[in-house]
Amino acid sequence: MMKKVIIVGASSGIGRHLALLYAQEGNKVGITGRRGNMLQEIQHQFPDNISIQKFDNTSDNITLHLNQLISKIGGLDLLILSSGIGKINLKLDWNIEKEMIDLNVVAWTEIADFVFHFFQHQKHGHLAAITSIGSIRGEGRAPAYNASKAFQVNYLEGLRKKSVYGKLNILVTDIQPGFVRTAMAESYPRFWEASVEKAAQQIFHAIEKKKKKVYITKRWWLIAHLLKVLPNGIYYKI
Ligand SMILES: NC(=O)c1ccc[n+]([C@@H]2O[C@H](COP(=O)([O-])OP(=O)(O)OC[C@H]3O[C@@H](n4cnc5c(N)ncnc54)[C@H](OP(=O)(O)O)[C@@H]3O)[C@@H](O)[C@H]2O)c1
Repeated sequence: MMKKVIIVGASSGIGRHLALLYAQEGNKVGITGRRGNMLQEIQHQFPDNISIQKFDNTSDNITLHLNQLISKIGGLDLLILSSGIGKINLKLDWNIEKEMIDLNVVAWTEIADFVFHFFQHQKHGHLAAITSIGSIRGEGRAPAYNASKAFQVNYLEGLRKKSVYGKLNILVTDIQPGFVRTAMAESYPRFWEASVEKAAQQIFHAIEKKKKKVYITKRWWLIAHLLKVLPNGIYYKI
């Protein structure tokens, strides 16, 4: 069945590949990001299926932009929240921490809440967000990044609980990648790094199967479980 899908943060990386996959399958897809030229390049590949809305998530008019994009694609069944930044911040520079918190926490929550209200009103919908395995433990080299992802994971569980408790018929999928080869991951160590194509394929299937939570690629569940049980004495040395 043809779906109306918005992907926030689709000008590059995981979001871009998900947009192409959803368009290939014949869905109506709305894509967002600040780099208009990148959005246009994606739209040119599927001009009948893809609509674009260029905006900065941290600007004041998120609601206006999302409503405009919903009108362009004729409704909304699924929103994938992929936008995010992750920066190593060895000096604990407040400007860098703030940039990550503004996008990954403040703007992210505004978008999640907007879409939750939208789905509540129409009595169905699916919110999927790309969080991270980084959500599991604090990280000294990028404290705000890991903390922002922990916030997202916890918030998604809150929304899922709200939906189940209130019988709202809103699905919530938490997608936790390990390392994926995109511009964002360039400065990270890269063991078990997946290609963006493979990661997008697995994410697409997990969303379509309406999973609550998934690790990307699948074998990262092992690292996730190790991280959860690793004693501080060892974790703080690596
Ligand atoms: N790559 C990995 O290894 C990895 C691992 C775990 C989790 N993740 C998560 O996966 C998600 C996607 O990241 P990616 O790896 O695909 O990186 P990416 O290629 O850098 O994609 C990030 C996307 O977010 C958008 N974005 C960034 N700042 C924005 C802003 N202020 N306003 C609007 N859009 C903004 C970018 O668009 P513009 O620049 O055009 O605005 C871009 O489309 C992120 O949430 C990231 O934390 C990635």
